[in-house]
Amino acid sequence: MPSEESHIFHPHQAVVKQAYVSSLSQYQEMYKKSLENPEEFWGEIAKQFYWETPIDYKNFFRFNFDLSKGPIFNKWLDGATTNISYNLLDRNVRNGYGDKVAYYWEGNHPDDYSRLTYKKLLEEVCRFANVLKSRGVQKGDRVAIYMPMILEGVITLLACTRIGAIHSLIFAGFSSDSFAERILDCEARVIVTADGVWRGEKLLQLKTICDQAMAKCAKEGHNVETCVVVSHLERVTSPKGVSQQRQTNRTPMTEDRDIWWQDVVPQASTSCYPEWMQAEDPLFMLYTSGSTGKPKGVLHTTAGYLLYAATTFKYVFDYKPNDVYWCTADIGWITGHSYVVYGPLANAATSVLFEGTPFYPDNDRFWTVVDKYKVTQFYTAPTAIRALMKFDDHLVVRHDLSTLRVLGSVGEPINPEAWLWYYKLVGREKCSIVDTFWQTETGGHVLTTLPGAQPMKPGSAGFPFFGVQPVILDENGKEIKGEGEGYLVFSRPWPGLMRTLYGNHDRYELTYFSKFPGYYCTGDGAKRDADGYLWVTGRVDDMLNVSGHLMSTAEVESVLTEHPGVAEAAVVAKPHPVKGECLYCFITLTEAGKFDDKLLKELKTHVRERIGPFAQPDVIQNAPALPKTRSGKIMRRILRKIAVNDRNVGDVSTLADSSVVEQLFASRPVNI
Ligand code: WT7
Repeated sequence: MPSEESHIFHPHQAVVKQAYVSSLSQYQEMYKKSLENPEEFWGEIAKQFYWETPIDYKNFFRFNFDLSKGPIFNKWLDGATTNISYNLLDRNVRNGYGDKVAYYWEGNHPDDYSRLTYKKLLEEVCRFANVLKSRGVQKGDRVAIYMPMILEGVITLLACTRIGAIHSLIFAGFSSDSFAERILDCEARVIVTADGVWRGEKLLQLKTICDQAMAKCAKEGHNVETCVVVSHLERVTSPKGVSQQRQTNRTPMTEDRDIWWQDVVPQASTSCYPEWMQAEDPLFMLYTSGSTGKPKGVLHTTAGYLLYAATTFKYVFDYKPNDVYWCTADIGWITGHSYVVYGPLANAATSVLFEGTPFYPDNDRFWTVVDKYKVTQFYTAPTAIRALMKFDDHLVVRHDLSTLRVLGSVGEPINPEAWLWYYKLVGREKCSIVDTFWQTETGGHVLTTLPGAQPMKPGSAGFPFFGVQPVILDENGKEIKGEGEGYLVFSRPWPGLMRTLYGNHDRYELTYFSKFPGYYCTGDGAKRDADGYLWVTGRVDDMLNVSGHLMSTAEVESVLTEHPGVAEAAVVAKPHPVKGECLYCFITLTEAGKFDDKLLKELKTHVRERIGPFAQPDVIQNAPALPKTRSGKIMRRILRKIAVNDRNVGDVSTLADSSVVEQLFASRPVNI
């Protein structure tokens, strides 16, 4: 075991003193109860929410994780009815939080900021829910959302939940092709977007991308009926004297289909009776990459997700009523769903919603914002931390960060060097760091330490959250007890675990439950050390994690081979100092193909257009042949070694032609 496992940092007394869970033994006691008596553990939590039809405690939860016993399912609080927006808004207003700030909105430009109270948020949500209704949106309909980090994004999500529509956010960094593929898959009738957004000094024309996506859908026979567009550009400050007017005037609107938010929302009524939803009615879907290339529409349902997002938020961030919490994740990812919207609002929290980037107008924007709003919990990704630690310490220490108590990390393993920088410089050795391991599929945190309960080890996600039972399996599916390394799986559900893949339950069963019968399989590897700490070692399938964006090798490969010059492609992850991993692509040319600057440029643009800028390859290598087994399977293990120029490739005897390996080591890759 590497020496870093012996580095232990104890939570600061000031954090421990006020924590909900303030000792290891208290955690253990609560954890035990959550597994032995889930009805009582989750039932207690459920009591703080409003149920139109009460919970039936005899039928609290049921599940099957074993395909040989029948279809996989996982149901919580079946029979109860509720409405999420009612619990997040009306309930909080009734409890006296009407004038409490739900969100401080901080724009890309520091001159742009605003705030929204719970009462006002409720009114805006009702208004937009009424607009959606007036456009024919009904319970169960899908609404596709392609939004920047603006208040209307949150309002749109909650308006969907008000009327029982299923929201499907598509991260506004996806290309029009990727967007179209997702609209088609969920058959969205309505799209909600904004004209555009500034990210640093870059302008993203979101509506133009929506138009391209809708045109592609129309070609496939699917016509989006309504596209609601927030007029955003004209109300914000553009960087260095760019004329905003010119930008908005350019936004083309298609009559009957496209409507401006500002033309319809202000006159809509501020009250909208909530649609009472069954506990197991769909709440939202969110796409995540699948190892076959086609995105998977992960589906979450109503009651279980609410309980889980609320509970993880409360305990993992140790949120107290006067705190100001800030999660930097985009609402287009699950982190944004659970920890920008649902978890915080369920706890009547005050959050910061930030539109910009860590680097604009300066590389200390994060710390300026922490200081400005007196942030107490800050939640970001290792890739951001690694990018920021390159700059002078002065950029951090010149700001007053003394309000911070909990620092969170999410999206990929955090390397101890970045952990220590975060802990020492940002946290002044006074904050607890929570390294939260989870997935789009898990709905909320599943492995983490709690701020006041356990000592931290840099790089380890720690322990299971309440109700979660992790198991490490070896290749043969045998459980590894105590110390050891293997596949990370879970032997039972918790309320927030996804229920199915939208429209494809077979793929759900196959992807997550077929490799090890009886277990939910994460696709990650993990090891347990002598103290019981869990260390997530990364994906064990053909997935890549670039700056916390998960994508499959297959999806990038299929896009590369669309180019007429490319016959075959194999993509592997190469370690990258800031992004964590980057894309290293091996391409075999067709007879017509020529490995030159033109080709490389075209491939780069093509990947950006087909998937999105975050999927752009860093390295491309000309591979006259790829290392394959006799049955034709590409041996990625070997390609990963070539990518880092490590000649320690191990056994190559199963290769059809082992001279290929030498050839690839001898030729040079191109960094693009
Ligand atoms: C994959 C899930 C969870 C929200 C953001 C990503 C990796 C995530 C950690 C962590 C090590 C992590 C895993 C996981 N991952 N958090 N704290 N330590 N790895 O959601 O896009 O569904 O990706 O991200 O590989 O399976 P996602």
